Amino acid sequence: MFYDTRKNDHGLPHNPFKAIVAPRPIGWITSMSSKGEVNLAPYSFFNGITDKPPIVMFSSEGAKDSVVLAEETKEFVCNLATFDLQVQMNGTSAPLPRGECEMKHTGLEAAPSRLVKPPRVAASPCALECKWLQTVRLKDFGGQQLERYVVFGQAVGVYIDDRFIKNGRLDTAAMKPIARLGYDEYAVIDSVFKMARPKGGG
Ligand SMILES: Cc1cc2nc3c(=O)[nH]c(=O)nc-3n(C[C@H](O)[C@H](O)[C@H](O)COP(=O)(O)O)c2cc1C
Repeated sequence: MFYDTRKNDHGLPHNPFKAIVAPRPIGWITSMSSKGEVNLAPYSFFNGITDKPPIVMFSSEGAKDSVVLAEETKEFVCNLATFDLQVQMNGTSAPLPRGECEMKHTGLEAAPSRLVKPPRVAASPCALECKWLQTVRLKDFGGQQLERYVVFGQAVGVYIDDRFIKNGRLDTAAMKPIARLGYDEYAVIDSVFKMARPKGGG
């Protein structure tokens, strides 16, 4: 089959786009208002985009709280969403009024970050403490401004639960990170395989 996204003439009950751009890592974003209110929400339009320096992005459909607060206080934290935290992660996507804490709402404990003010999720095995770089409002192919915002941040501090470091390497499969697919589907990384790069690759 083939469909034109301007017509969305796929004939399927649901748009398949997100089932194709899959698996997507989940940036579980902690942010904080200038009054010190803590906010936590998952974003699967999320990724690391360079490693030197380590830069991440997340994208929001509408100017959601995480976007507004990351820009307000210029900091945010990306917590790793794992299989064991799936219920809490999903719970933090509830549309709570700004200022009401999703951590309390889902029974999650916060742990202080070292280099930024927003706390990390204590139970999450990894957290990237980020300084806000810029927010880009997207335009579509026709130049139309969209209510779509991409936030970029540089990870200045990285927390790793030492239990997941084995023989000098981070044991990703042991952390069981979850990833978003399409519809109501998720994937879990609980096994990995290795492959050497071709010689001379950059
Ligand atoms: C797994 C998962 C991934 C999500 N990814 C996104 C995303 O990439 N962009 C987005 O705008 N909303 C996404 N959402 C919805 C937001 O988490 C939700 O709208 C949330 O209330 C936003 O919170 P905030 O206003 O505190 O930032 C996702 C929800 C879930 C459960």
